[in-house]
Amino acid sequence: MEQAQRLQRIPPYPFREIAALKTKMIQEGNEPIDFGIGDPDMPTPQFVIDALCEAANDPETHPYDESGFGTERYKGAIADFARRRFGVELDTDGEIQSTIGAKEALVHIVWAYIDPSDVVLVPDPAYSVYKVQSGWCGGAAFPMPLEAENNFLPDLEAIPEAVRQQAKMMFLNYPNNPTGAVAPMEFFEEAVAFARKYEMVIVQDAAYSEVYYDEGDRPHSILEVEGAKDVAIEIHSLSKTFNMTGWRIGWAMGGREHVEALSRAKSNVDSGTFMAIQRAAAEALDGYEDFAPQMQEEYQRRRDALVEGLQSLGCPIEKPRATFYVWIPVPEGETSESFATKLLADCRVLAIPGGVYGPSGEGFVRMSLTIKGEDKIGQIEQAIEHMEAGGISW
Ligand SMILES: Cc1ncc(COP(=O)(O)O)c(C=O)c1O
Repeated sequence: MEQAQRLQRIPPYPFREIAALKTKMIQEGNEPIDFGIGDPDMPTPQFVIDALCEAANDPETHPYDESGFGTERYKGAIADFARRRFGVELDTDGEIQSTIGAKEALVHIVWAYIDPSDVVLVPDPAYSVYKVQSGWCGGAAFPMPLEAENNFLPDLEAIPEAVRQQAKMMFLNYPNNPTGAVAPMEFFEEAVAFARKYEMVIVQDAAYSEVYYDEGDRPHSILEVEGAKDVAIEIHSLSKTFNMTGWRIGWAMGGREHVEALSRAKSNVDSGTFMAIQRAAAEALDGYEDFAPQMQEEYQRRRDALVEGLQSLGCPIEKPRATFYVWIPVPEGETSESFATKLLADCRVLAIPGGVYGPSGEGFVRMSLTIKGEDKIGQIEQAIEHMEAGGISW
């Protein structure tokens, strides 16, 4: 059966191919040490699971969530969290939308704003959804290169005037996948002023806002910038913060106009999140301060082991300040693809070639600290040993 033209315009989801390659190696009895997909390997905290079980037993959670925006309990917990964590005040009536993870929100916000031929400013490298969805709506993604020399922040001054005039949306993602970069407040201020001047909406993907390593260096919300709600919507997720990727829950917060646009798009596609999951998510956010340090300390141990190991091989990198990704420049003479292939074939180490994330990702590979199996530090040490034995150096 012939499929829609629309489907021909989108590529297969990139990780499908990497997952297939990994499956093949496992079948051949040659399981790699997997630094590939960024999916937390630790379980959802027990207090959240308990809250779900209890809520699932309450028939009041079983029907549609007719509010459309999310339950009062969940939105209240989000507003409290945003106040405690970022000092951001939100009106639970119109400035918060419950979402089916960050991804769903990122998709529907594009459908809410982008018409054919609209320009969308998209970081390069980036999570694939921004560009793919923009294209699916007929929009044109204009890449904003993220380069090491500029701390992996886009250079807004470098965007040509004609593009600025046409742009209707700008995606940002800090803390950043795949580079691990964090945006300082000055950058968010600059971006908000830019969006105001050129009349575009900023979609700031904050899926990794809580995976950070230093209490004194906590990532900011773009909504901390005065007046940001006029031009920005920020997308949050419980996926990475609470090891809840499979639960599919997050939220969008920002100016009423943008939240309502998202809500209108999504309410015509999905029917919200199971209210028992919303209740459990509210409990998770209430317990954030008790739980987050454990998660952060665990990733910090792994980050330190991996980065120090790579440094011992001569790799010129610093420890990322946030996210569970390490963004590694490839040795001279290698491409992303050739280096990732060498790591896999010669060292049994699975890393993602940076080019998967866009042309500016070429020259890098990404390693994720979410490692399955026992003895995480042992596996990291083994990977470094394999790399050394495989002749990897910088
Ligand atoms: C940058 C970024 N945004 C959003 C998501 C999706 O998160 P969620 O599970 O909340 O849909 C991911 C998942 O890897 C991601 O890397």
